[in-house]
Amino acid sequence: MQENKAFLPDGTSPETAYQGAPMDNMDMSPTTSKWNPKGWQKKWKITAVIAAVILIIVIIVAAVEGSKNSKSKPDYPDYHALNYTLEDRWQGTNFFDNFDYHSSPDPANGFVNYVDQATAISTNLTYAGDSSAFLRADSKDTDAKNGRNSVRITSKKQFHSGLFVFDIKHTPYGCGTWPAVWMADPSDWPGNGEIDVVETVNQGNTGNQMALHTSKNCQMKSRRAQTGTVHGTNCYNGTNDNAGCAVMGASSSYGAEANDDGGAVYAMELRDAGIRMWIFNRDSPPGDLRANNDTTPDPSTWGLPIADFPSTDCDIGSHFKNQSIIANIDFCGSWANSVYTSQFKCPGKCEDFVAKNATAFEKAYWEFASFRIYSTDE
Ligand SMILES: *[C@@H]1O[C@H](CO)[C@@H](O)[C@H](O)[C@H]1NC(C)=O
Ligand SMILES: *[C@@H]1O[C@H](CO)[C@@H](O)[C@H](O)[C@H]1NC(C)=O
Ligand SMILES: *[C@@H]1O[C@H](CO)[C@@H](O)[C@H](O)[C@H]1NC(C)=O
Ligand SMILES: *[C@@H]1O[C@H](CO)[C@@H](O)[C@H](O)[C@H]1NC(C)=O
Ligand SMILES: *[C@@H]1O[C@H](CO)[C@@H](O)[C@H](O)[C@H]1NC(C)=O
Ligand SMILES: *[C@@H]1O[C@H](CO)[C@@H](O)[C@H](O)[C@H]1NC(C)=O
Repeated sequence: MQENKAFLPDGTSPETAYQGAPMDNMDMSPTTSKWNPKGWQKKWKITAVIAAVILIIVIIVAAVEGSKNSKSKPDYPDYHALNYTLEDRWQGTNFFDNFDYHSSPDPANGFVNYVDQATAISTNLTYAGDSSAFLRADSKDTDAKNGRNSVRITSKKQFHSGLFVFDIKHTPYGCGTWPAVWMADPSDWPGNGEIDVVETVNQGNTGNQMALHTSKNCQMKSRRAQTGTVHGTNCYNGTNDNAGCAVMGASSSYGAEANDDGGAVYAMELRDAGIRMWIFNRDSPPGDLRANNDTTPDPSTWGLPIADFPSTDCDIGSHFKNQSIIANIDFCGSWANSVYTSQFKCPGKCEDFVAKNATAFEKAYWEFASFRIYSTDE
């Protein structure tokens, strides 16, 4: 439903339209409110009646036009099955070859020191074996005054659309952490959009948060087919302190609970019709998402997604371009800091804790089984 003002021509609201009544020549005696018709001269009363009639006509015409507009608004999109074929499978000892290491200051202003590739390898903050790739935060430095060492990797390849399957054995958590697996274009944010697929803060026991961040004109206020809980419907980065339009999963969708279940498979479909996400237990994903199944995956057989961002009030195709896959572990920053004590009851101050409590970060690691990317010609 559009706001009322959209139903009037050139953005005028009923209030501003009513100011067409000539106020300038009115009797402005101090005892008479300028809005009290009893104090008005007769000719102004007639003029006011005519203005009111014109206003009513304008409102009726605008309402008819408005209802035509709402009919021409796109309907809930058609998510028909696409013929996906495997484009990339990133796993094994070459996993990190697909990424650049971000080692300049944190664009998100967290309390972190992102190290370069050589440092990450020599300190084992990234390590790729045959069956897992690890990306972790340092858990040794007991005096990390300028932020704890950690890693942020950005895929060299970028994508406009596709089906992205993140098969994850262990998700990082712990007071002060702010980990994510997400997509964005580092050279055009938020112009080319941001898709947060796996993200949380601190103890990571309040469910996975899935969110979009965009430039203007992208909202999620219409019908959605999803099982998650809505946290904000305006994706524009200029609203709500850039909280984005988010959907929360159950507590088992992230953190210790997910890890104890053997990890999770996070699937995200990006297409013009919309963006949808599913989360499955690693032990029992749909057959077509099993690690070595070469079948074309068909999301229409997976049941309702946990998050659905349809294109109804957001032109997904124009808001999301050149998306790199990014994985990182940040610390503190605006989100983790703001709920550090209030929601998570973490001790002391976030930055003190991160600087000094090295061993608290032993659980702060990603263990990736694989990233698979499927594309379609359609
Ligand atoms: C799906 O795409 C593949 C590769 O492009 C093609 O070989 C196959 O015939 C397509 N299948 C269908 C059902 O369209
Ligand atoms: C690096 O990390 C991996 C994964 O945790 C571990 O198996 C390996 O032993 C570590 N290497 C060193 C030198 O610590
Ligand atoms: C939103 O993005 C614009 C454009 O890059 C930027 O100038 C602005 O600071 C951003 N606002 C927030 C709250 O991130
Ligand atoms: C691959 O997925 C299809 C569709 O779910 C399923 O029928 C088939 O058994 C799976 N194959 C393997 C090897 O898991
Ligand atoms: C996407 O990236 C390519 C290569 O860097 C660039 O030429 C193109 O303009 C970018 N597209 C958008 C929409 O930013
Ligand atoms: C380190 O962790 C312990 C145990 O959680 C806590 O009591 C202590 O306050 C923490 N130290 C700092 C500097 O935050």
